[in-house]
Amino acid sequence: MLCARGGWRALRRCASLPRAVRLRVREALGAREPAEAVRVQGWVRSVRSQKEVLFLHINDGSSLESLQVVADPSLEKRDLTFGSAVEVQGKLVKSPHKMQNMELQAETIHVVGPCDIWSFPLKMRERHPLEYVRQFPHLRCRNNTLGALLRIRSEATASIHSFFQDNGYVHIHTPIITSNDCEGAGELFQIETSREEEDSVEKSHFFNVPAFLTVSGQLHLEVMAGAFTHVFTFGPTFRAENSQSRRHLAEFYMVEAELSFTESLQDIMQVMEDLFKTVTGTVLSKCPRDVELFHKYIAPAQKGRLEQMLKHKFMIISYSEAVEILKQAPQTFTFKPEWGCDLQTEHEKYLVKHCGDVPVFVVNYPYDLKPFYMRDNEDGPQHTVAAVDLLVPGVGELCGGSLREERLPFLESRLERLGLTDAYQWYLDLRKFGSVPHGGFGMGFERYLQYILGVDNIKDVIPFPRFSHSCLL
Ligand code: 4AD
Ligand code: MG
Repeated sequence: MLCARGGWRALRRCASLPRAVRLRVREALGAREPAEAVRVQGWVRSVRSQKEVLFLHINDGSSLESLQVVADPSLEKRDLTFGSAVEVQGKLVKSPHKMQNMELQAETIHVVGPCDIWSFPLKMRERHPLEYVRQFPHLRCRNNTLGALLRIRSEATASIHSFFQDNGYVHIHTPIITSNDCEGAGELFQIETSREEEDSVEKSHFFNVPAFLTVSGQLHLEVMAGAFTHVFTFGPTFRAENSQSRRHLAEFYMVEAELSFTESLQDIMQVMEDLFKTVTGTVLSKCPRDVELFHKYIAPAQKGRLEQMLKHKFMIISYSEAVEILKQAPQTFTFKPEWGCDLQTEHEKYLVKHCGDVPVFVVNYPYDLKPFYMRDNEDGPQHTVAAVDLLVPGVGELCGGSLREERLPFLESRLERLGLTDAYQWYLDLRKFGSVPHGGFGMGFERYLQYILGVDNIKDVIPFPRFSHSCLL
């Protein structure tokens, strides 16, 4: 056996070829046995030239660790610098260093693409602050922190899909272009063609109706939940929130699920909690070194907390209880807590702290605060809907969900009062043709990453952040 992963198969396939076997850095580092004639391609993370020996570290994004290359100083060239792209061929041997399993003894080093280190904004062996590398969205993926983040992001994405597929959900591609405003908050980006039309009316009617970038796939998922019972979607979502806050983006990714034949918020909360715990468990076990980097350098307080959190049930409080807790708080808030008012970030933070710095579900929000689709609890005098938000330490709201109003008369009268009856005829149809109790939720993927990794600013957990006054690249 040559190595732990695909390298063995790769070697077998190429055994009769004269060309050395190409290994990813991760495969080379994980190899169980030495090998002759190995080829590694990547970018130079460090160069150290000594009298007798030349040391390089090569990284190709397959792992946080770089592969050490040991070479004769005669192989050194002027353009073999930090940041350059190289192909190294040689022997894979056991490394004498405790920290590394294998190293590559170079026979040839080919500089595929040189790097002008004087103008390259990343510097060798420097731990650049996240704010600094944010200025270079085209280069920051070559930095350790962003590299780790993007591997974790990829693993978490795969795990989200597996979670739903394993539990019998059908994945739906909900549209990005839509004519509805699901949340009714008016945070829509309207779509227009870029063609210069003489007739501006024609220009704004490419689809015959005003069209927008989606703020949520929920309503389309509700359509599908009327045929498949369990559906999910996971895609880009757009909100024209004029906010520079550390938890808002104009383009973010949302995981959304919709469940039919569901009569209690408890069922929805169970899926949220299971999703959160399953994906986090997978990330912790599949990307331990990448996660460790965040918990060591970015958010030391987070170390060990996630493992603890995974062992306990999330807490549940009602909105009314939350307001009482806030009213009795020994501190004053900028926004005075009052029944009927939205929970502000400062309130969410306090509630999470008050509950012991663990994830907390807040259920049953005031009827007047929430969108038209939420199910009326028919209570009073404090009238509520069956809504649920999941609040988490450091981030605040991570998920938002609800039971949906499946009763035709209730939905008709609510839409009527909002003047939305015509626009939502198709939605009313769903309540006429085999309506069932159902509900679902959406989880902000970037906020999820922020929470598990302890990253303060949401712009650092997405490859190319878009927010008001900024759309680089
Ligand atoms: O609470 P929201 O608005 O819920 C919905 O859109 C529902 N229609 C989802 C559903 O039931 N299918 O958004 C869901 C989550 C929020 O809890 C938050 O984590 C995230 O999406 N989110 C944002 N993340 C980053 N930037 C923004 N501007 C966000 N707005 C919402
Ligand atoms: Mg919400």
